[in-house]
Amino acid sequence: MSWHVLPTTTAESPRAEFALSVLTGLSERPKQLSSRWFYDDEGSRLFQQIMGLDEYYPTDLERWIFDNRGVDIAAHFAGRSLDVVDLGAGDGSKTFVLIQHLRDAGVTVRYVPIDISEGAMASLYGIAAKRMPDLEVAGIVGDYVAGLRWLSAQDDRERLVLFLGSNIGNFDKPRARAFLRRIWSGLRQGDHLLTGFDLKKDIDVLLSAYNDSEGVTSAFNLNLLSRINRELGGNFDLDQWRHFGTYNVFTGAMESYLMSLTKQEVHIEALRTTFRFQSWEPIHTEYSYKYLVDDIVDLAEVCGFDGIERYTDPKGWFTDALWAVR
Ligand code: AVJ
Repeated sequence: MSWHVLPTTTAESPRAEFALSVLTGLSERPKQLSSRWFYDDEGSRLFQQIMGLDEYYPTDLERWIFDNRGVDIAAHFAGRSLDVVDLGAGDGSKTFVLIQHLRDAGVTVRYVPIDISEGAMASLYGIAAKRMPDLEVAGIVGDYVAGLRWLSAQDDRERLVLFLGSNIGNFDKPRARAFLRRIWSGLRQGDHLLTGFDLKKDIDVLLSAYNDSEGVTSAFNLNLLSRINRELGGNFDLDQWRHFGTYNVFTGAMESYLMSLTKQEVHIEALRTTFRFQSWEPIHTEYSYKYLVDDIVDLAEVCGFDGIERYTDPKGWFTDALWAVR
């Protein structure tokens, strides 16, 4: 049993793409680095650690939703045959909870994790073999949309696509719409999408989730600079930078920054460029958009989906929205 590797859609090698993105981001004003570069091996490990923090509530709440509402989610698919397509599966631990509920409802499940990292896919196959040895797994190593299109061309099984953990929050609103519309175009009428949204809530809760007391989020953010040092020959001095996480009430997003603590110069060999930073100059690194229920309803509508049901934790902090392709 093995996964399918799709050819990359970009002409660049991953390293060249990273280099180009760092060059253009640090040439912008204000300077920025894209959150997509957080997840190298070290960053993925740090994010796993974030998910285990008490202050970082989304993971626990989404697991609560699957534990307690999984039966109701599964009831929509009872007795059918389904490809469960997992976009950015991670370790798949929440997904397995949902798949168990689906199987209990008599659903024949084929698990289709789609991930850009072959390493992540290999470890996911290992976990699947342990947790559900009789589960059919058909992974795709490639980008999400290319993966879905490829899958559509392969067979005509019904699909439930999962986009969990409020990963959607990394996109600003126009990009979220564009992304979901592209997902829509890779699906057929009647296919379903389950998306995890982090809801607007007490700002103190948000601030401590993204500025945890153990400093794991800080290490996660600073790892972007270490990654530039490792992969592109940068000479960032991590002691001269600090993590800053803040909530922008106006845009409704948690925003992460790396703040330069001094006036400094950083050379990046692979770019043959020296970048200058003023003291307290920020580099923007991440958005994490928070949603109102009305935003979610509107989003389904404009992206071509019918809202079926929403599943929310008791505090009303996190919701998984089940939509059907119209
Ligand atoms: C993986 C994008 C859902 O935005 O909450 C956690 C990443 N950043 N702490 C989020 C993250 C800082 C996380 N997502």
